[in-house]
Amino acid sequence: MREAERIAVIGAGYVGLVSGACFAEMGHRVICVDQAEEKIARLQQGEMPIYEPDLQELVTSNVLANRLSFTSQIGEAVRGSDIIIIAVGTPTLDNGDVDMSQVNSVLASIAANAITSKIVVMKSTVPVGSGSLAEQYLRLLAASHIEIQVVSNPEFLREGSAIWDTFHPDRIVIGAKHPDAGARIAALHASLRAEVLMTDRESAELIKYASNAFLATKISFINEMANVCEKVDANVSLVAKGMGLDRRIGPHFLNAGIGYGGSCFPKDTKAQLKLAQNIDYDFKILRSVIEVNHLQRERFVTKIEQEVGRVSGKKIAVLGLAFKPNTDDLRDAPALDIIAGLQQLGAVVHAYDPAAVEHASSLLPDLQLFTDPYAALDEADAVVITTEWEAIRCLNWRLIRSLVKEPLIVDGRNMFEPDDMRELGFTYVSIGRKTAVQAEMVV
Ligand code: UDX
Repeated sequence: MREAERIAVIGAGYVGLVSGACFAEMGHRVICVDQAEEKIARLQQGEMPIYEPDLQELVTSNVLANRLSFTSQIGEAVRGSDIIIIAVGTPTLDNGDVDMSQVNSVLASIAANAITSKIVVMKSTVPVGSGSLAEQYLRLLAASHIEIQVVSNPEFLREGSAIWDTFHPDRIVIGAKHPDAGARIAALHASLRAEVLMTDRESAELIKYASNAFLATKISFINEMANVCEKVDANVSLVAKGMGLDRRIGPHFLNAGIGYGGSCFPKDTKAQLKLAQNIDYDFKILRSVIEVNHLQRERFVTKIEQEVGRVSGKKIAVLGLAFKPNTDDLRDAPALDIIAGLQQLGAVVHAYDPAAVEHASSLLPDLQLFTDPYAALDEADAVVITTEWEAIRCLNWRLIRSLVKEPLIVDGRNMFEPDDMRELGFTYVSIGRKTAVQAEMVV
């Protein structure tokens, strides 16, 4: 194996911070850079800016071992490293295009500060062709005696299991124009023993978008099947199980519910659709996937309305704010749209989340937030489940039955067996499974 590499990771968000800490753990010397001085100051004091299992311990031990450090000075980091990993945000602009301003500003800093040869690794999710443009730009602007090569190395980590995912990847994708640069980036991951797929740069850039778009498609597909199930009195959980046993389909990402959210799927599906439009291609499936995901949230509000009757003035306890469990991330969380829909109908919403209440208080100042679930549920006219947290599954539902005003649960994540909740005395309504009335008829 090569010697430990000197790596700068630019952008200390989810991807940058996790990748930086993991590369340090693999024995490399890593400096993480972020222009947000306050974030860097907190990191230097051992405080994590995000909630991610095991991150605190990983950062602390690698800082103590002198393999990991933090700075807000990008120039110093560029000069002191041979490999520069770009992990800044690529949000969506109002017109649907990808906002490359953060990536471009990093490229300008690299060009201005590189005095020795560098390999620049693009980990940010960028439109196809960006790696090639970046390399041309850097070669034009950087000092003529140095060699700068750009390698695409998309990441596939999931929030909430980001560290586990980084150490146990299904695959490592490396898109390089120059085999030596690709091989050196592959060697960075040598201790992981994962399948390494070497590709051209453009294909690597597309693999990231294609993977997220395909997973989003699975989710929207099963959500539409759930809507069909409701009309024909079938059970989507069984349909998904039956489909998933076919190895060509696989069991994952077939959980019906209120659709996908988060920082990646909504952004990347929209970006891929816009990129296709820009090259004059109408990506019909992707357009539908996005539309179905949006409609699924609206359908859920209508479902609550149907069950509650007149929603105006009713107290509705919403359990779960984060876009999925084990994170405090509220970006494009389905719960936010659902709460807004209920509030528009005049509902008094009480919301509980095991981790995201602090974030929510700055984002939704008018919402009544609770860190105690039982306080949120007290005298509620309906209980609405929007995130499948284990902490919600483990609540004392017998006690809740005695706390609420009306024993109605509308579960957007199919967390419970309908019979179990009915035995406890609830009217239990979920997604793509028998409605309460139909179930009573069967009993
Ligand atoms: C995702 C990809 O999985 C990851 O590879 C990529 O790098 C970033 O985007 P993440 O956003 O962390 O990761 O969440 P993920 O666990 O994939 O879930 C995304 C959303 O889909 C969540 O809102 C989740 O609730 C929803 N989902 C997932 C479903 O509704 N049904 C499913 O069956 C699976």
